[in-house]
Amino acid sequence: MPTFAFHTYGCQMNVRESEAAAKALLDAGHTPAPDEASADIVIVNSCSVRGKAEDKALGKLGLLCATKRERPDRVIGLMGCMAQRLGNEVFRRVPTLDFAIGTRCADRVAPAVEAALQGRPTLALRDLHAQPDAPSGHMPNGGFSAYVTILLGCNRRCAYCIVPDVRGDEWSRPARDVLAEIRTLAENGVREVTLLGQSIMNYGLRTPAFDADDPPSPGGYTLPFPRLLEAVAAIPGIERIRFTSGHPSGVTDELIRLYQEEPKLCHHLHLPVQSGSSRVLSRMRRGYTREHYLDAVARLRAAVPDIAITTDVIVGFPGETEEDFQETRTLMEAAHFDNAFIFKYSPRPGTLSATWEDDVSEAEKARRNQILLSDQDVRGALLNQALVGTVQRVLAEGPSLRNKAKWSGRTSSNKIVIFTAPDGLRPGDALDLTILRAAPQTLYAE
Ligand code: 5AD
Ligand code: SF4
Repeated sequence: MPTFAFHTYGCQMNVRESEAAAKALLDAGHTPAPDEASADIVIVNSCSVRGKAEDKALGKLGLLCATKRERPDRVIGLMGCMAQRLGNEVFRRVPTLDFAIGTRCADRVAPAVEAALQGRPTLALRDLHAQPDAPSGHMPNGGFSAYVTILLGCNRRCAYCIVPDVRGDEWSRPARDVLAEIRTLAENGVREVTLLGQSIMNYGLRTPAFDADDPPSPGGYTLPFPRLLEAVAAIPGIERIRFTSGHPSGVTDELIRLYQEEPKLCHHLHLPVQSGSSRVLSRMRRGYTREHYLDAVARLRAAVPDIAITTDVIVGFPGETEEDFQETRTLMEAAHFDNAFIFKYSPRPGTLSATWEDDVSEAEKARRNQILLSDQDVRGALLNQALVGTVQRVLAEGPSLRNKAKWSGRTSSNKIVIFTAPDGLRPGDALDLTILRAAPQTLYAE
């Protein structure tokens, strides 16, 4: 049988969907290729969040399709956000592409591969208002840590963001499906789950359009987010729970209490801020002000002193002045982020802000990006330095990529620790390690 490989761009949601599609191919009798170059079937899972992400995927598809000249039987397919956005147009840009499968229908990938092997192309796009196909299959021996998608789509409509257009209406997977999936994972050795959703704290808000398909059961159609976290924590074998991404409106007293009382809930929150200027936040339609955001951070830090908070920031949003930018700088200092991902604004077709002038020059975006990155480097180094001498509980992941003699693992706060492994250590084992040394992105222990 032909072998397959995935090349995945974008967020964890995409990583998860590639895995579910891979499991479907495995079930159909195909085998994972040892590497992409030798694979008979290569599937690119694409991201549309910035123009650059799409350019990369298109470039990759061009290179892959060029290999068909020497290997005419090779199957090259596209899935994910860019397939959804471009639809049929993608076959004009990449004429020898075998299939394009949009979002919300990862279950179509395996049939599209079968069709391609018989020489038939596929374009599959599902109605974005219809109930999605939630990725549920996991590769066997996937290790001790797994992603579980609990919320698909997004209803927020931030001015810059293409996600609602490519991933559709927000939909909470029924809690019983989520819990059954995690129970099976735990039975197969998974110790850590990361729950995924674009606006994950909205999980369990009823989605009237979907209620008709799934009438409320005695336990409810689904659970409010904090209840779901508790139900996951009650599953035997699960030792750590993470989730992403957060929104300040979801930082409720109830969630904070869970961080304090539920030892399995990791002390890390990814809380994208996007800007530190209330004027820009309002134009972005983010639904909070600078003060509201900083208040959420202060409440978290007061109640959970060792929590790590990470963020996303966009520089050069239309109309962002030097003063707005300085407010982002001071917010980042005040929030003391453990890590930050900084992006240069990229207008996306169909979004509200794409109708406004992209008036911050590329050079100015690059300057603002650099300043925030170097601020964050200094901040990250100081925060890590403060951990030297402390004892941290680390879940071992495996041999370090850079230095095979050492292992790497993560703290509850999601920091990477490099250490010398004791004999017989297995991935997923927990160790209490004294931190000896710190670099901006890494901690070292014996
Ligand atoms: N331009 C630049 N960055 C963007 N992001 C989302 N949309 C855009 C855009 N149009 C960033 C946000 C988001 C992260 C995943 O990508 O910071 O949190
Ligand atoms: Fe990219 Fe957003 Fe799609 Fe994730 S949901 S792959 S970040 S466009």
